[in-house]
Amino acid sequence: MTMSMKIRNATNRDMPSIVRMIGEFELDYENLQPDQFIIVEDGDVMAGFGRLKPYPDATELGCVGVLHERRQQGIGKMIVDELIRRGPAEIWITTDMPDYFRALGFCECQNVPRSILQKLERFRDFARGRIVAMRHVKP
Ligand SMILES: CC(C)(COP(=O)(O)OP(=O)(O)OC[C@H]1O[C@@H](n2cnc3c(N)ncnc32)[C@H](O)[C@@H]1OP(=O)(O)O)[C@@H](O)C(=O)NCCC(=O)NCCS
Repeated sequence: MTMSMKIRNATNRDMPSIVRMIGEFELDYENLQPDQFIIVEDGDVMAGFGRLKPYPDATELGCVGVLHERRQQGIGKMIVDELIRRGPAEIWITTDMPDYFRALGFCECQNVPRSILQKLERFRDFARGRIVAMRHVKP
């Protein structure tokens, strides 16, 4: 990690790059709004991004993406930790990478909110692999 790395809110100007990477990484493309995203910037390069997506009955952390050449440097964790910090006490994720998110404090559990169950249903056929819902609760 370099000294010039910083996290900031995304703006309209970041959306073309974010949208392109969401397509490339096959992430959630629904209802993309700049004010839901944060980005990690290294100098003037966007190294990664992530999102808090509100539903009437839940908040979902999603669209976590890191440039291929910047992976394995803790940037994904930095994004997830910051979104958890900014979000409500309970946050959900729908993912095909449960092991990655388990290491960041998420657990598979019962009582999944309706909106998150509906999201799983919508993405079942589109997703890269089996997707599950997981929850993080702040201590
Ligand atoms: C998932 C992703 C965001 C991780 O970003 P990153 O910056 O490389 O992550 P970090 O550096 O914080 O963490 C790397 C750790 O995650 C682990 N990891 C990476 N992919 C994993 C996977 N599919 N399953 C389990 N663990 C995984 C690595 O082994 C590494 O562990 P280590 O620290 O013990 O070596 C990145 O690979 C990515 O952008 N993938 C494409 C988009 C995507 O699938 N996003 C997740 C769905 S929301």
